[in-house]
Amino acid sequence: MQVKVLSAKFDIPDANTLEVAKKHGAYATLDKIFAMQPEEVTEIVKESGLRGRGGAGFPTGLKWTFLPKDTDKPVYLAVNSDESEPATFKDRYILVRDPHLLIEGIIICCYAIRSHAAYIYIRGEYTSQVKVLQAAIDEAYAAGYLGESVAGFDFQLDVTVHRGAGAYICGEETALLESVEGKKGQPRSKPPFPAVEGLYGCPTIINNVQSISSLPFILANGAAAYKAYGTEKSAGTHLFGISGLVKKPGMYELPFGLPILDVLEQVAGGLRDNRTLKGIIPGGSSTPVLTAEEAKTVTLDYESMAAHGTMFGSGGIVVLDDTVDIVKLVENLIHFYHHESCGQCTPCREGLGWMLKIVQKILNYEGTMADIDLLLELCDNIEMKTVCVLSAACTMSTRSYLNKFRSEFEAYIAHSASKHATM
Ligand code: NAI
Repeated sequence: MQVKVLSAKFDIPDANTLEVAKKHGAYATLDKIFAMQPEEVTEIVKESGLRGRGGAGFPTGLKWTFLPKDTDKPVYLAVNSDESEPATFKDRYILVRDPHLLIEGIIICCYAIRSHAAYIYIRGEYTSQVKVLQAAIDEAYAAGYLGESVAGFDFQLDVTVHRGAGAYICGEETALLESVEGKKGQPRSKPPFPAVEGLYGCPTIINNVQSISSLPFILANGAAAYKAYGTEKSAGTHLFGISGLVKKPGMYELPFGLPILDVLEQVAGGLRDNRTLKGIIPGGSSTPVLTAEEAKTVTLDYESMAAHGTMFGSGGIVVLDDTVDIVKLVENLIHFYHHESCGQCTPCREGLGWMLKIVQKILNYEGTMADIDLLLELCDNIEMKTVCVLSAACTMSTRSYLNKFRSEFEAYIAHSASKHATM
């Protein structure tokens, strides 16, 4: 099932170095792209069907076309390498095993969008990864792939790495921009979208590491070669991080469209200790959970996930077996979002803390049946009443656990009732 499109050099020793990467084709697309007009490059990316790999799946080439035409302001590229979504660990493989793939993708994107400055925003916890990335950038500068004249062509490009400081919210694209500008990482209202008004008020394209790293294959082999992988609307391949209670957790590159249960069995080795599947978090902690029954008909693509009431997300699949305590899982989940709330919007800042207290009350055997409905009511009242979707990520997933695993919450509450009755 596994394919090697993005991960072609992942298993080659020292592929992070320019010498080895070049031997295996790095920077080979540059002659081709500089012979084209920038708009032609964008057209190929549009045709390829590439969609944003950060989680939202927005068409990449289309996003580039939202840049204002004939602007006299500089255009920026911000590469989102914050990768803070719990259970998401794909971009780090690119950063460490094939950073020149990312740099080549940045050159392609910047040429297409007429940008001469790119920022890579990397999460603060990626301490070893940032060293490998910076070393690759330094090598690219020394070899003339970055700087005044990229690969000898009449095109200047500078790439700057900006390190985060451990805030999940800085992966939200507008909070990321605030952070690069040296301000507190708090999201901005959209619109205006960053493509129109982004970094320092200038048009800015923000793309995820994996999206940008998909460009060299697309430009080298053509849109049709990329579309040969995946489904009609979910084209290409994705790096999936499979974790949880499976025999072989890890990062696997797969084409879109495979049945999720086949992947769990044949790629991730199936459940540990012959346990029973309870549910699957399909694409990072923000995505609503799938029950074992629902999972039987889910395939790994945007459309199937949406049809099952969830989202494809970031490709971080978490497998839950029958030993998992859903109420404890939900406490952990809400605790995370509450802790990471930037505090800008009252429903998020106060509401998530309130939700956490209620779940803790249930866990402490002090809950009542009304608490379940109160939690659901809070989810409704918080959702989409904030500047960004951090709280919605928490409420949408929490609601899915409450609705699909309600009996587990009720079991705690029933136990509380009997405990109090005997006191
Ligand atoms: P979104 O759907 O609001 O936007 C997606 C992208 O399209 C953005 O770059 C936005 O600027 C652009 N866009 C959308 N409509 C536009 C328009 N009319 N004009 C111009 N540009 C437009 O999604 P958002 O809030 O950026 O991301 C949410 C996703 O992020 C979630 O699905 C979640 O799975 C994922 N996520 C990923 C994380 C990670 O570590 N990779 C962390 C947390 C969330």
